[in-house]
Formats: sequence, structure tokens, C-alpha cells
Amino acid sequence: MPVPIEFTPEAVEAASGPDAFQPYETFLRSRQPVDSIVESNPWMRTPATKDEIVWGEGRYYDTTVGRKHPYWKDFDLPTPTKDLHQLRRDLFEWGFCLVEDALSADQVRQTRARLVEQAAAEREAGIDYPGGSFQLICSLINKGEIFPKFLEHDPEVVQGGPVIERLLDETLRKGWCVFSFTANISYPGCMPMGLHQDQGAINPFQTPEAPVDVTTMYILEDVDERNGTLIVPTSHKLIPAVGSGNKVGKLPPTIHVEAPAGTVLLFDGRLLHGTSINRGDDWRYVMVQPSMKPWVRSQENFMLSTDPRVLENASPKLLQRIGMQGTGGLGNAEGFGNRGTGRAGDPAGSMAAARAFLTAGDYRHVGELTVDEAQRLAEDRYTLQVLQREREGRQPGQRNHYW
Ligand SMILES: [Fe+2]
Repeated sequence: MPVPIEFTPEAVEAASGPDAFQPYETFLRSRQPVDSIVESNPWMRTPATKDEIVWGEGRYYDTTVGRKHPYWKDFDLPTPTKDLHQLRRDLFEWGFCLVEDALSADQVRQTRARLVEQAAAEREAGIDYPGGSFQLICSLINKGEIFPKFLEHDPEVVQGGPVIERLLDETLRKGWCVFSFTANISYPGCMPMGLHQDQGAINPFQTPEAPVDVTTMYILEDVDERNGTLIVPTSHKLIPAVGSGNKVGKLPPTIHVEAPAGTVLLFDGRLLHGTSINRGDDWRYVMVQPSMKPWVRSQENFMLSTDPRVLENASPKLLQRIGMQGTGGLGNAEGFGNRGTGRAGDPAGSMAAARAFLTAGDYRHVGELTVDEAQRLAEDRYTLQVLQREREGRQPGQRNHYW
């Protein structure tokens, strides 16, 4: 029988011309809010080369800290505080808050020393990731025993952890996952990074009701107008207010974050921000950890990247945060995880258990199977069978009934 003519590639193409009913095309192709941000605010355009850096004309990277800024100095912008009530209000109102002394002086010293060493070693080995704006250290989770503890908000490495964790849980709901965990080291004379929203992975969707990301930045030296991160206060409300896919109008000016070493900057994933030019003499070390709704595909593929030794020692909390708790809705494999709740420590969703088989080179996938073969199947022919018995409590030989 010939294939019906309507199903041929030529017919599908012919029925998809400019007159076809394609209700989502304009929205999906809109490239908003990114295009209109620069159209409406030409001073926000990212320079392509060092030759294009211009001072004295109000470009986004040519700014100062809030309290000295002609536009912002009369506003009550956030300053570092330990008061959780104030931090909540700041994050909601301005799109960012500053947790004062989130790291003690010792914690700053220890963390910074490890990063300085790792960054130098990766450059020396030629395995580094240089960028126009910074050296990036990826997969911190594997690069020192302190780093997984940051993802758990362990007060041993970050004394303000309980406050940070609370703010993330309240803004994203418990069950959020780590999007990536990196260090971002801007160097003297680097280029400014383009302004962006950290939840840009879901563009052109905007989420006026609440963010799907909150980013944690661990500040490891004093930052100000020389080397502070650029942010546009209130842009977390102004950009989503126009609606998904629509054009953004004029935005208020950028400022540099001003904070002493040990401060943690938390910012809303809808807030416009970027690494600035480093006009100081030293390399500026910060660690960046976006936290996302668990349905956003993570930037770092922790399932692949995490060192088996880190996994062996990982707490249930850490495993959940790096996306290793499967559910019927998210992150299952071959069906395993379908019965998981997504909660830390739930054996029925332990994707780390499945990953351990892969690491050992011993993962055996279910493939094409006949009833005849199934009747002669060994009980541990497939990894899935082992996981089902050990993690879901299925009995050997158990058959499920559908009637
Ligand atoms: Fe960012």
C-alpha cells in the first residue's frame, strides 16, 4: 500500500507555508525579552571587543554603587543584613538581598584559598575555561570536600546557610535543584558580561507570579564600583510585567553590588545582571549557584559530572539537590523512579543507585524482548529488575495484574 499522499514530506512542507495556521510561531520566535531590552535601552548593548569599551557616556558597565548613583542614591536599596525579615522584603522588592557575614572570615579564607589553587592548577594543566569576562571553574562539587557542603548549606562551610536555605525554600518551594555550581573569577581588564536573567533558559516565557530561579553568589572579597557584579534593581518585576514574548521598554540604570567579603548575594532569576569589568588590580573570586525549579533542565549535568567518590559520601539532601531523586513526573529511567516521591532519601527514586551501576560499567538496559525470552528471563538479567527488588520492594517472580 502506498503511503497516503498527505503524509509525504513534500505534502507536509506544502501544508506549512506562510498562510498555515501556526498560533505559537510569533511567540516562540520572538527572542524577547532579550532583543527589546537592548532596543529600548541602547546603553545596555554588550560590547563585542575591547575597542568598543566607552567611558563617560552612560554605558551599563560605566556605573557606581547604589549609594553614590545619581538615580539610585535616594532609594532605600538593600545593604548587607542578617535580619531574615529584611532579607525577605529586599529580595521581593528589589530583586536581590545581601546576607551579611554569611561566611565567617575563616570560611572566606579557606574557600578562597581552595579556589585560587584550583584556578591556577586548571590554567597550568590547560583544562581551564577562559571567557571574555572571567575564568570559569566548572563542577565545583568535585573539587574539594567543602564544596558539596555549600550545596547542603552546611554551617560548617557557610555559617549563614540556614538563612539562605530558608529563603530558597520559600521562594522556590522545597524540592528545588541545583542548576550549576561554578566559580567566576573576573580578572583586571576583562570585558563586561552581557546583562541577562539567570532563568533565561525558559525564554520567551516570563513568570510574573514568582521566579523559577534564585541565584546564590558567594562573595569572597570586598566588591564595589571597581569589581562588583552589575545589577538592575527592580528589573525582576519590570521585565515580567510586560508579559511573555512582549517588548520591554526603558529600564532603570545599573549599579555595582557593594559588599564586603563574606557576604552572600541572593538574587531573583528574573533580575537583569552581569559580571562587570574588573577595574581593580586583583582577580575577583565569587562562587555562583543558581537554584531552579526541578523541571528546568540543569546547566550542569550532575548525573554525568559528579565524581563517584562524591556520590558515595553524598547525603540524601545533596543527592536530591543535584537531581538524583526521580519521580513519575521527572528524572526517571526505564520506569525506575516512577514510584519515587522526589523527597530526599526515598529509595524508590534513588537515581544515584542506578548511576552506581553505570559507573561500575554494569548497567544492563531493557531492550527488545519477546514473551518467549521473558519466560526464561534470569532474575537479574536487567539492572531494572535489581532496582525494582532492592528499591521498590518487588518480589522475585511477582506479576502485576491489570484487571
Ligand atoms: Fe548570571
